[in-house]
Amino acid sequence: MGFIEHIPGTVPLVPPTRDARALGVGVLGLHEGRTLLLALCRCSRAYAAAGCDTNQDKVDACAREAPGLFYTSRFEDMLLRPDVRVVAIYTPDADHGAHIEQAFEAGKDVICTKPLVNSVPDARRVLAAARRTGRRLLVGQSTRFFEPFRRQRAAFERGAFGRVELADAHYIHRMDWYYRKSPWAARATDWIFLGLSHPLDLLRWYLGPIRAVHAAATRSALGAGFDISGPDLYAVTVIAESGAIGRAMGHYGVHELPTARNCIELMLYGSGGSSLAQYHDMRFVYTAPGPADRSMSTEVTEDHLYAGRQYYFNSEVHGMHYGEFANYAEHFASAIIDGSRASPELEEGLEVFAVMESARRSAREGRSIDVRSVADEIGLSAAGATR
Ligand SMILES: NC(=O)c1ccc[n+]([C@@H]2O[C@H](COP(=O)([O-])OP(=O)(O)OC[C@H]3O[C@@H](n4cnc5c(N)ncnc54)[C@H](O)[C@@H]3O)[C@@H](O)[C@H]2O)c1
Repeated sequence: MGFIEHIPGTVPLVPPTRDARALGVGVLGLHEGRTLLLALCRCSRAYAAAGCDTNQDKVDACAREAPGLFYTSRFEDMLLRPDVRVVAIYTPDADHGAHIEQAFEAGKDVICTKPLVNSVPDARRVLAAARRTGRRLLVGQSTRFFEPFRRQRAAFERGAFGRVELADAHYIHRMDWYYRKSPWAARATDWIFLGLSHPLDLLRWYLGPIRAVHAAATRSALGAGFDISGPDLYAVTVIAESGAIGRAMGHYGVHELPTARNCIELMLYGSGGSSLAQYHDMRFVYTAPGPADRSMSTEVTEDHLYAGRQYYFNSEVHGMHYGEFANYAEHFASAIIDGSRASPELEEGLEVFAVMESARRSAREGRSIDVRSVADEIGLSAAGATR
């Protein structure tokens, strides 16, 4: 008797037919980047062409799982490949700026994982390189592309919640394993970028341009044990130019309560209804008109875990990103092929960077920061900014 390969009722992974105009993707950094390399089989308009890592073990592991691609330890060699139309960057945060610039100069469009960059000089550098070369970039904000968040966004765009008056987002995760795996995370970045890039991007997505930020931060006992250079707990309050407000929270030395609180959650309080999206459970909860009396609202819970775990997690283990990475690669490849706009592209990503940098400064200086002052330092003119 054979093993069960597919549970009836769940959605199986059926690779779609590849579009004749599909774009080849070369992945730089094959730890988290491995996820995209393997996930690209879910796409019709993008496909895996090449992989690059300076660590030969990472290259060998990918070559076993995805044979037949071009593999190298030298980024320059991958950039010379005509079949690499898009470069996807998954190197440590502090290296994104240099790698984006190198890819743009080689004539490639870029997917860069979050955080886009983690310093003002790198923000200026990528903006200047984009303007010089005319290349495009999508920030791989994976949370936006996770099923409950996609459904929440579609409902918002249908007007189901009215105007969002308050948005409440968090990303919490216990990170001792991450410091052991990636020592750069303790000293060469800041959790405002590495972690809060998720909730702060969500606030910017729903509230529009952010006017001012006030933040407090401290360091957990777990973080102190790894001698991290910055804080690993943040509480950030934002006010948008529209007057709507939001708060974002991050805690990376946390004792998790996985059944009580998801790693990432976004609660929207709108003038016409409320909703919650969760990662890594796959729930989307919202208010809807009651069946009998439309004045009495009903709470509806959609749970996508049973149907979606194969596509999004590739296994029973929650917390991988196969589906989200495939979704954003398909989104960006389609935008390039069709000549349409993608989101979040470079300027929107830099606006989110300005919010993160404002929060970092606010926590250090103990005062509110005007986000426009950071945007001006980057060179993002008000007229050029994404609205
Ligand atoms: N949800 C998400 O989208 C998500 C999740 C996890 C990590 N990330 C981001 O992905 C990035 C990488 O994180 P990670 O956990 O994979 O880190 P990691 O330290 O495990 O892996 C980084 C890899 O890059 C390789 N590398 C470094 N410099 C290189 C170079 N010049 N050329 C080729 N390879 C090089 C390293 O050898 C390593 O294999 C980070 O920016 C992180 O914030 C995003």
